Amino acid sequence: MKLIDPWEVKEVKDYNKLMKELGVSDFLQYSKKLKDSPLEIKRGLVLGHKDFSKIHEAISKKKKFAILTGLMPSGVFHFGHMSVINQVTYYQKLGAKIYLLAADLEAQLTRNIQEKKARKIAIEEYLLNYFALGLKKKNLEFYFQTIGPKKFKEYTNISKLASAKTNFNEVKNIYGDITPQKLISALTQTADIIYPQLEGIKTTLTPIGFDQLPHANFARDIASRMGFDLPAFTFHKLIPGLQGPTTKMSSSKPESYIGFNDDEKTVRNKINKYAFSGGQATLAEHKKHGGNPDVDVSFIWLKYLFEHNDKKLEKIELDYRSGKLLTGELKAILIERINSFLKQHNQKREKARKEIDKFTQFQ
Ligand code: TRP
Repeated sequence: MKLIDPWEVKEVKDYNKLMKELGVSDFLQYSKKLKDSPLEIKRGLVLGHKDFSKIHEAISKKKKFAILTGLMPSGVFHFGHMSVINQVTYYQKLGAKIYLLAADLEAQLTRNIQEKKARKIAIEEYLLNYFALGLKKKNLEFYFQTIGPKKFKEYTNISKLASAKTNFNEVKNIYGDITPQKLISALTQTADIIYPQLEGIKTTLTPIGFDQLPHANFARDIASRMGFDLPAFTFHKLIPGLQGPTTKMSSSKPESYIGFNDDEKTVRNKINKYAFSGGQATLAEHKKHGGNPDVDVSFIWLKYLFEHNDKKLEKIELDYRSGKLLTGELKAILIERINSFLKQHNQKREKARKEIDKFTQFQ
């Protein structure tokens, strides 16, 4: 039964239902065990997994493992994209070999973004920001779906041979009615996920958002039928878009996200104007009843993206709940944090420019 469409998802309302019906296990035991993890793991944005025990064992016993993940280069790089990269850089520090891909084929097939444009976005928006966020070149293989990784021939063959290991009934069960372009994209994604095994690394983890869950099930079924090891996955909740706690940041809707190129004024205006508030309608009511941080986008962003200090976060939460901290004040905290993050990030990005030089030949 199709519960989620990876290409069309606009919001996710019930993560527990998704997890239960699509066979996802609770990640909590691992988020507690992993040391010095990024906020996404520590604070529970990464909510579910499949087969993470293999990865945990590889980390504990210092055995070889690989991370493979990718993003579709569909527009500007925004804070909705950061969670996956923070996880990737964390695993890279733990010794994982990293495979990162730009899904430029998928962007052409499903978003009608031409190859040249998709490559440019992938390099200048995504890759540049990945390096500025701490990704290292060592132990990293980056590729475009349209060009393929090092073992190009095996990779393209896998995406085609995978078609013999499924049928329209199964495809319909997982994805509903999909177009041929989407099916090709799904098979290509399966080849991406299997790829590290072609280079000899059997233990692999693909960190992705819950919107990508159908691809995980499809890839695991096909991988096992082709005689590969079962790839492991973690699934993170989507960082909400500015419009509300269950909405999504979307590159085609500038009022839904804060982009890494937004200037100070734009950040201030967007947060003040659009960030959904869990506060009360009037000052008097707010002081009396308090606000609700659980649905407040500014609080949620502080929790998962910006406030590393647990004590400070807790104080903000309590003050907001009690009504002592007002919506405008909470927004002001977030605005300050985003702008100081971006100021530092811009400097890192200038330094990272040299890292992307060798990729510009693909434009
Ligand atoms: N479908 C993903 C997206 O929409 C991109 C992607 C392609 C991907 N291949 C992948 C993600 C393999 C993880 C693993 O962003």
